[in-house]
Amino acid sequence: RKIAVFASGNGSNFQALLDAQDQSNYEIVLLVCDNKEAKVMERATFANIPIFCFAAKDYNSKEDYEKVIVKQLHRFEVEFIALAGYMRIIGKTMLDIYEGKIINIHPSLLPAFQGKDAIEQALAKGVCITGVTIHFIDEGIDTGPIIAQEVVKISLGETKETLRRKINNIETVLYPKVIHTICAIGEKERVIEWQSN
Ligand code: GRF
Repeated sequence: RKIAVFASGNGSNFQALLDAQDQSNYEIVLLVCDNKEAKVMERATFANIPIFCFAAKDYNSKEDYEKVIVKQLHRFEVEFIALAGYMRIIGKTMLDIYEGKIINIHPSLLPAFQGKDAIEQALAKGVCITGVTIHFIDEGIDTGPIIAQEVVKISLGETKETLRRKINNIETVLYPKVIHTICAIGEKERVIEWQSN
């Protein structure tokens, strides 16, 4: 299955998906990035993955740039989209066309700590556990149907950096596995059925 990864920053999840693809049923055919300075751009260039990089400020609206993104997705015959640290909310244009085909990874146990800074939020609340959630995207922020979750314990004296590392270690193993499973199952409803068993 052909997938596109959307990212805005470091790209460790992009890298993990890329590194696992030889043993998987998916192929990353496109990176979509909204920040030309992002480290993920270097990673994709190095791996010879086609890149569509855009600056939101060059467009009048989300609809305008998403229409251009959709053109690229069609051109590369993308079937599934994996968001991996993409710092923009997916709009109606893309949601309508890729309904049930857009997946996100979030560094908390949703529905706890939605939005930005989920790791900081968990530390600030003083919870003992947090984790990683992989879910389908809907029109809300970090609200779509949950596909997989994994728990991360917060130790005494945990800092933002140590917790970020623990979460990242889980994410980079879990995301490729789950994307593989989704690509194998295909239909969103069947994926949700699978996860509840
Ligand atoms: C990850 O923690 C992911 O859960 C969140 O953004 C971060 C991206 O990290 N959505 P990276 O760019 O893949 O290293």
